[in-house]
Amino acid sequence: MKQSSLLAGSILAAPLISSANFFSGSDDTIKIALIGCGGRGTGAAMQALLTKQNIKLVAMADAFRDNLDNCYKALTAEDISDTSGKPGNLKSRIDVPEERKFTGFDAYQKAIALADVVILTTPPGFRPIHFEEAIKQGKHVFMEKPVATDPAGIQRVLAAAAIAKQKKLNVVVGLQRHYQNSYRELFKRKDLIGEITSSQAWWNNDGVWVRPRKPGQTEMEYQMRNWYYFVWLCGDHILEQHIHNIDVINWFKGGYPVKAQGMGGRQVRKGKEHGEIFDHHYVEFEYADGSIFNSQCRHIPGTMSKVDELLIGTKGKIYCGAAKITDSKGNAIYQYDTKMENNPYQTEHDELFAAIAKGEYKFADADNGAGSSMTSILGRLATYTGQAVEWDKAINSGLDLHPKAYDWNAVTPVVPNADGFYPVAVPGVTKFF
Ligand SMILES: NC(=O)c1ccc[n+]([C@@H]2O[C@H](COP(=O)([O-])OP(=O)(O)OC[C@H]3O[C@@H](n4cnc5c(N)ncnc54)[C@H](O)[C@@H]3O)[C@@H](O)[C@H]2O)c1
Repeated sequence: MKQSSLLAGSILAAPLISSANFFSGSDDTIKIALIGCGGRGTGAAMQALLTKQNIKLVAMADAFRDNLDNCYKALTAEDISDTSGKPGNLKSRIDVPEERKFTGFDAYQKAIALADVVILTTPPGFRPIHFEEAIKQGKHVFMEKPVATDPAGIQRVLAAAAIAKQKKLNVVVGLQRHYQNSYRELFKRKDLIGEITSSQAWWNNDGVWVRPRKPGQTEMEYQMRNWYYFVWLCGDHILEQHIHNIDVINWFKGGYPVKAQGMGGRQVRKGKEHGEIFDHHYVEFEYADGSIFNSQCRHIPGTMSKVDELLIGTKGKIYCGAAKITDSKGNAIYQYDTKMENNPYQTEHDELFAAIAKGEYKFADADNGAGSSMTSILGRLATYTGQAVEWDKAINSGLDLHPKAYDWNAVTPVVPNADGFYPVAVPGVTKFF
């Protein structure tokens, strides 16, 4: 995997293609299918439906019927016209009768077949399978980050991304800082700080939900419900959340690290319900030019909260959270007016669906989604093993954390011991390749 092949920007030249390539129906309605009807899926479907285009949600798929029903209920609860809740006609854009609600592990295939554009918002472990299928079926895609949880999944996404480009299918990845005004303005001015010689990023906060085991659940169902705590499904929080900050550093650097070393562990996340993930990681990433990126992420209640990125250059610094640029003496040389900030979650859908409606091929985010997902995985491999890990070796390792089969009674990649606890990586002992 050459670094350069992962450097494609998200906005391509926009050749016009006949709209016949885009819509499966005879009118100009853009049909969407939602795969993964949880919190983010509900939000993303809403944002797609609130764009100015003629959109219809025609199919929904989820592993679990209760999650699909809750999502359908939320989407059809009110007729609104924008994210502020102004009255409108959202309901008329939702046309998902019983026969187009699909559940189970193969639900995605049936829903994808009915749409022009698919929204992929399951836990990231399934993304490579779902993305591959969407591209095979010739659909445009909005998919959430991360795009995979292991190097084998990254390779699948890169292979499907190459086919998406041949087929001119638009792909947007939910790394929404690329669609946020302040980040776009800072990026335009990044040369003000000269050459970027080091960088820092943080995702430090209290952590996320736990979904406790319920009586009668198979091990597969339990892990799918409580997915955050299983690496094959989630990738650990260094991937699931910190990817946003890691991606910003990659974006501004214009590349991906060549190696990583770091440390991590679990201080407070020690219960059975916490599966196998760590609660803190500190990674030193090194880019090809020798510059160092220090990354930290922590999920520990009661500790300092900080989610931000800082780029340090030969002539100054970019403070992403504060949306300002200083010279090397600390004088502000640019300050973005935060009153002009947009809702990047809405913008990514506005721009994607506008391009599709016009028959334009404009977005190819999958390569970068894979690059930043792989960077986070590289960091995790470094903290889990306590070794220095090289990008080339890791991405070509073939490491595949997934189960051999997907059904409710299938053997899961990790199983609890007799006391209900899962094996946790031990730096210095754990090895992957
Ligand atoms: N860009 C952002 O800021 C942002 C914010 C939140 C979540 N996300 C991402 O969105 C994704 C989903 O997160 P969430 O918070 O909505 O989780 P969630 O648990 O609320 O929803 C996930 C849904 O996917 C379903 N699902 C699981 N496996 C499936 C399968 N094989 N086929 C079909 N459906 C399946 C689950 O049943 C559930 O309804 C994650 O990748 C997460 O990182 C991104």
